[in-house]
Amino acid sequence: MKHKMCLPIKIINSLFFVLLFTNAIAQNKHQFKPDKNLLYTIAKNFTDAAAQYKVLMQNLPADKFPKTYFPTTDKYEFSNSSWWCSGFYPGTLLYLYQQTKDTVLYNEAMRILEVLKKEQFNTGTHDLGFMMYCSFGNANLITPSTLYKEILLNSAKSLSTRFDTTVGCIKSWNGKPNEYLVIIDNMMNLKLLFWATQVSGDSSFYKIAVTHANTTMQNHFRADNSSYHVLNYNAATGSVQQKRTAQGFADESAWARGQAWGLYGYTETYRETKDRKYLDQANKIAQFILSHRNFPSDKIAYWDFNAPDIPNTLRDASAAAIMASALLELSGYVNKKISKEYFKTAELILKNLADEKYKASAGSNGGFILKHGVGHNPNKTEIDVPLTYADYYFVEAMIRYRQIAIK
Ligand code: GLY
Repeated sequence: MKHKMCLPIKIINSLFFVLLFTNAIAQNKHQFKPDKNLLYTIAKNFTDAAAQYKVLMQNLPADKFPKTYFPTTDKYEFSNSSWWCSGFYPGTLLYLYQQTKDTVLYNEAMRILEVLKKEQFNTGTHDLGFMMYCSFGNANLITPSTLYKEILLNSAKSLSTRFDTTVGCIKSWNGKPNEYLVIIDNMMNLKLLFWATQVSGDSSFYKIAVTHANTTMQNHFRADNSSYHVLNYNAATGSVQQKRTAQGFADESAWARGQAWGLYGYTETYRETKDRKYLDQANKIAQFILSHRNFPSDKIAYWDFNAPDIPNTLRDASAAAIMASALLELSGYVNKKISKEYFKTAELILKNLADEKYKASAGSNGGFILKHGVGHNPNKTEIDVPLTYADYYFVEAMIRYRQIAIK
């Protein structure tokens, strides 16, 4: 891209660190101008976010991970390292260190990675991609080390134990004996397996990842390209027994974060395989989202596309942040017209998330960056609160936007 922009020294200085993150934008076909004002906002957002995470770290018990915060009661919820979100806190610290070079963030990331590292042997969860790649994967990109590689390879081996050849999927949740439950979110854990094959030369990880992606593509999607949240397979035959939701409004509804995970997951699977069918799937999901009558004009998705009380229902900042990050990458893989549509949508999401409506003011929100995420509405947990993954993908999307701008 041939832009002549007078960017502040701070932005130029961070160019080196931005380019370290090769998992960000793999290609660049963008032919349109990034918004200069947004670039300035993003630079400020990184500084503000670093200050916020210093507030968060001061409130964190030594062996715990942030889960959420309730502003009305000034109460935090923390988790142990085995919670599916434990990788986002170190991952965000490392992204912010990459942008600000503030060693306080790096040192805190190093501290919490020590607490997290035992999860490399956890075979009781499918979330090892989230937990270990967003954290140790980012650490390994900044400071490549044999120790990180060993932890990541062990994590990939642990994740692989949950794959079943008859079903052709990695098991998400341990259900009843006759259930084999797979959720769309699981597409996000494949990156760890692709990485493991690249580093070890052992193709078994890659084969598991593409088999999972193929089975999910075959069964998880409806005719309109939206996805179910949960599929229950028969482990003996591999047939689908049930299609339903857990975190969405209804079995037949389109839970917003689920659509975002699918969009991101298939974009990433295309990046890792270069197989066109995954790009097609990502584009189909993007078209479902972007053309949906309930996708609001500010592009911050309602928590479920079919929530009955739209427009008087909650937005999900986490779904919006994931969509922005995915659309920025996908915009590099498609023709100019579609690329512009994706890029502009992501740009609008970033502008709106950076607005005070979603971005917390200094020192508020328990130190989280964003407000208004929806964790599990049917369960009545984590509703309209900050979420670690909203912060993580917001920061990632801003890095991606900046990376496109400086190319
Ligand atoms: N099940 C992970 C999520 O809430 O997106």
